[in-house]
Amino acid sequence: MLTLDNHDEYAKLDAGRMLHFLRELPEVAEAAFDRGQAARLPIAQPRCVLICGMGGSAISGDLIRTQLVGACDVPVVVHRGDQLPRFAGPDTLAIFMSYSGNTGETLGCLRQAIARGVPSVVVTHGGEAGKLAEQHGLPTVSMPAGWMPRAALGDLFFALLGVVSQLATCESPDVVGAVANLRALRDRIDETVVTKENPAKRLALALHGKTPVVVGATPTTEAVAVRWKCQLNENSKQTALVAILPEATHNDIVNLTASSHSGHHLIVVTDPEDSEFVRRQRAITLDLMRPFVGGVHEIEGQGDSLLARQLTAIYMGDYVSVYLGFLKGVDPTPVDTIFALKDRMKVAMEGVR
Ligand code: PA5
Repeated sequence: MLTLDNHDEYAKLDAGRMLHFLRELPEVAEAAFDRGQAARLPIAQPRCVLICGMGGSAISGDLIRTQLVGACDVPVVVHRGDQLPRFAGPDTLAIFMSYSGNTGETLGCLRQAIARGVPSVVVTHGGEAGKLAEQHGLPTVSMPAGWMPRAALGDLFFALLGVVSQLATCESPDVVGAVANLRALRDRIDETVVTKENPAKRLALALHGKTPVVVGATPTTEAVAVRWKCQLNENSKQTALVAILPEATHNDIVNLTASSHSGHHLIVVTDPEDSEFVRRQRAITLDLMRPFVGGVHEIEGQGDSLLARQLTAIYMGDYVSVYLGFLKGVDPTPVDTIFALKDRMKVAMEGVR
């Protein structure tokens, strides 16, 4: 089996240079935040913030939503779909996240927002969303070229944070602290650190041949768990499940304790801000599940703020997913089926609005 300590050996698999893009995440954050802050807000005091996007572009919305649950006076809703929710109106701030600018669902919502006069901001590299934004004079935060959407998390997320942090009802985030924590973690888990001292490589080895089940909690770590699952799907080409507490105690807990799941490996993401209810419930849940699963790993992000902890917990998952991809002999970058499906949908939707 390939060893993660011989970089030359697995560098051949990394034709899309995912490790390079991963390394850049902390480096792009502050500039992206500034670009987001410089975008003109089309409404100063919205009654609701609506974030539309899919996949690697939507996850930034999830992170913002979960951070703002306890820190923002207005509701933040993340929408993954092609129809703009009916509640979106003149008092909504709608933010459209699409790295490529060509994602059908996000474009569907954007077109409806323009038709309905919903105050909108577009975060994109360009594509059709970029064109629509230009035609209709919508404030736009531009993304750099050449990234896979999921690898552009540093740009997409911090740009969104910059936009949202302009709202008077939201607290200002500690971007500098979060970036420092990301850099410190990178020093511990990047490809130059040998497996013996590298928790991300060790976890990738433990997951190899297993089905990961990533357990998060509402609201602190649910977006982190979803990101882990998606990165395992796309970078490692690995089936992965996600279970969010407390909801998971009302369904997932049944099947996971009904029979042996020795091929399933739990990755439990915790946070010091988890409520006492969640802590106790998680302990009992793990007690019940442990005898049925192959292994349990606990992960906690680093830093004084939820922002820093969410991002470092995600960064760990990103590295694990790339290392697991290498162990499976796959290039983490290509997601051919996503592109093929988008191409077919473009044809299928021709003439339909
Ligand atoms: O990771 C990916 O490539 C996907 O999940 C995309 O982010 C998703 O298809 C949406 O594309 P975009 O981010 O360009 O709108």
